[in-house]
Amino acid sequence: MPRKKKEETIESKPIVKGKIKTPNVLRGFKDVLPIDQKYWTFLRKTTEQFVDDYNFQRIETPIVEESVLFERGVGKETDIIEKEIFNFEDRGGDKVALRPEITASVCRAYINHGMFNMSQPVKLFSSGPVFRYDRPQSGRYRQFNQLNYEIIGEKTPANEVELIVIGYNFMKSLGLKDVKVAINSIGCSECRKEYVTALVSYFRSHKNQLCEDCQNRLAKKSLRLLDCKEESCQALREEAPQILDWLDDDCKKHFVKVLEFLDELEIPYELDPYLVRGLDYYTQTVFEFWATDGEDKGRYALGGGGRYDDLIEILGGRPTPAAGMGLGMERIILTLKEKEIEVPELDAKDIFVAQLGELAKRKAMVLFEDLRKNGFSAVANFSKDGLRPQLEMANKLRAKYTLILGQKEHNEGTIIIRDMATGIQEVVNIEKIQKELEKRLSK
Ligand code: HAM
Repeated sequence: MPRKKKEETIESKPIVKGKIKTPNVLRGFKDVLPIDQKYWTFLRKTTEQFVDDYNFQRIETPIVEESVLFERGVGKETDIIEKEIFNFEDRGGDKVALRPEITASVCRAYINHGMFNMSQPVKLFSSGPVFRYDRPQSGRYRQFNQLNYEIIGEKTPANEVELIVIGYNFMKSLGLKDVKVAINSIGCSECRKEYVTALVSYFRSHKNQLCEDCQNRLAKKSLRLLDCKEESCQALREEAPQILDWLDDDCKKHFVKVLEFLDELEIPYELDPYLVRGLDYYTQTVFEFWATDGEDKGRYALGGGGRYDDLIEILGGRPTPAAGMGLGMERIILTLKEKEIEVPELDAKDIFVAQLGELAKRKAMVLFEDLRKNGFSAVANFSKDGLRPQLEMANKLRAKYTLILGQKEHNEGTIIIRDMATGIQEVVNIEKIQKELEKRLSK
């Protein structure tokens, strides 16, 4: 039998400079580098606080789900499902998708785990990556991260208000002072039906002035006629029927209550009759957060959400009212950077352990482990031998003290403690160094 040729893989090939092309990160995907970690840590820590303050429970759902979950949940005729979802067949032939959002998954979990038996509403928080094959540009990626809040099981305007308060205060806590809340009601499925008929009839009578996309929207995605970015379509919509005039009594009352609560809480908002959102599951209140550029709206929404009273039933559960929102982490971070908002540096270290010489290095390694186990905030770099680079690193990490162990100190059983703020150095018996550090750090 002929011997099988050994399969050549990238790993098995010797790396010759210039011959092997290094794969690049995919378009629309991003590496989050160490230099940016302080922003992510800042967002996550602030989020932890909000999740606890507003008493949400955490839930994690898989990134891969059955495609049908999103087709039914988000809506077959949305851009997300028609153009953007990462669908594929797995090795077993099942149609699966990378989640393009988190709400449908959380609702599936609510049904699967019988959470309607819990005390309602169930408030669930989850965060993580979502995927949309969108046209990449600044603030628009194919993989991005959402902070996702859902309040499921009760119908009260207080739900939407709580979400808007969380989103608004969250942005403020991060230092984003000029965030605008845009809000609208798109009615329940009943009153929306009549409104859409009137809207389509209006735009149909101006069909020739509509862009090609909007001409197609006449047949489906009709509400999206309202958020077209083309000038000619925007001019037409000024005369178009407005959803607020078509709300039935219940929807009107509900929306007025939402606005009254917001007034009471002094949350500034702007009524935006053209805000319709790109997911089909919304009913009644919809809202978005925008960072403003002076007077103008920013380039993109930092977050958005709304009520979705029909979704759980659409997914096969019992009728269950709900509301939620998703905040886009990358866009918030971009805005923090654009507005040059300072975020806390990552935790500084108290102690840097520096060493000189082979024997000293071994002893310093043991000392570092002891310090770490005893709860000191210590750091070392055992791949460096010279003192200068080690002191430079200690400075960069804003260490309060550097411990220096050289050949002489090793032989004498001592260690140098250097106060990094004053530069003053003292020699201490190595047996007593932990007590000395405790004393100095507790001051
Ligand atoms: P969404 O408006 O599609 O809503 O997304 C929420 C946020 O995710 C957006 O406001 C934006 O900040 C961010 N985002 C969306 N697309 C991209 C992208 N391509 N690149 C970077 N960031 C992006 C939802 O996903 C709903 N599930 C929110 C929700 C939760 N509604 C009820 N509950």
